Amino acid sequence: MLVLGIESSCDETGLALYDSEQGLVGHALHSQIELHAEYGGVVPELASRDHIRYLIPLLQQVLAETGKNKSEIEGVAYTAGPGLIGALMSGAAFGRSLAWSLAVPAVEVHHMEGHLLAPMLQDNAPAFPFVALLVSGGHTLLAYVKGIGRYEILGQSLDDAAGEAFDKTAKLLGLGYPGGPALAALALQGSAGRYRFPRPMVDRPGLDFSFSGLKTFALNTMQKTARENTDDGRLTQQDKADISLAFEQAVADTLKIKCRRALQQQNCKILVIAGGVGANRHLRQVLAEMTAQIDAELFYPDIEFCTDNGAMIAQVGCFRLMAGETQPLEIAARARWSMQDLTAV
Ligand code: KG4
Ligand code: ZN
Repeated sequence: MLVLGIESSCDETGLALYDSEQGLVGHALHSQIELHAEYGGVVPELASRDHIRYLIPLLQQVLAETGKNKSEIEGVAYTAGPGLIGALMSGAAFGRSLAWSLAVPAVEVHHMEGHLLAPMLQDNAPAFPFVALLVSGGHTLLAYVKGIGRYEILGQSLDDAAGEAFDKTAKLLGLGYPGGPALAALALQGSAGRYRFPRPMVDRPGLDFSFSGLKTFALNTMQKTARENTDDGRLTQQDKADISLAFEQAVADTLKIKCRRALQQQNCKILVIAGGVGANRHLRQVLAEMTAQIDAELFYPDIEFCTDNGAMIAQVGCFRLMAGETQPLEIAARARWSMQDLTAV
């Protein structure tokens, strides 16, 4: 079955073709980074308008690049939540209508389920059950994945998501939007050991996270360092790099400690990382070392499938359409949608 997947929940328009036999056939992505950069964050109305502008050209691009014809599409899957409602509605209206015009079934996909199963796009896919760390701009959670649609939430962030903490700290440092990759790039020039940030909630039992204190710690560190720079009372580029590195190490270490605890608690030897922050190379390295130490295996998607993309939506859509799930002739989307409400496949 050849499925078209559509992602439009935030600031990336992604379209992809996924085949039940061959896997991913092709994909196309348009990022709105330039559009939102001057505002320092995503402007929802501009995001919706831009999705509308790019959905059809991206469909044409993915069809041209894969040599497929529109008439070969056998099902359409689109992100129906969680996310920005206008952005979601753009993709849902387009996807549901396209399916109707092609007389093929449509299916709604949960954005986080897309991320969670993105490592299955790789040739070397993890086998169920596994522990998954989902770290994105909107969510941070640890889940025990027993199968498709069978997710037990082991812990989650009580306040800021890991990506949100990266973005807010980057903003304090004047690094602009999107902050995560910019902060990670600057951290490469940092020298370790100058600052030590706390590892929030690691001394308490349980698998929940809290990252909002880290940005406050970063702010206090910045202010103190600036006061000590008696020349001009400003931060140097090296100060910013050192703070970035200390922040990144604190987030990665905290995630590592909780992942190790989750693997031990579930008596599981497979860890999967997904979501935008999963693109962070320092985090990957720290988790690779930890899993090697405890004789566990680590899986993650290619960098391009960590952040938002159409491929992960097409894949989940294909799994669900193959299982007979379909969306009636109603265009719907939801800003909030719990992963626990998904049906098992
Ligand atoms: O999964 P994603 O593309 O969108 C959501 O569903 O939220 O994640 C975006 C988040 C942003 O917060 C971004 O700053 C962060 O992922 N991110 C990174 C890196 N690349 C993206 N954070 C740290 N290091 C990176 N290399
Ligand atoms: Zn995402």
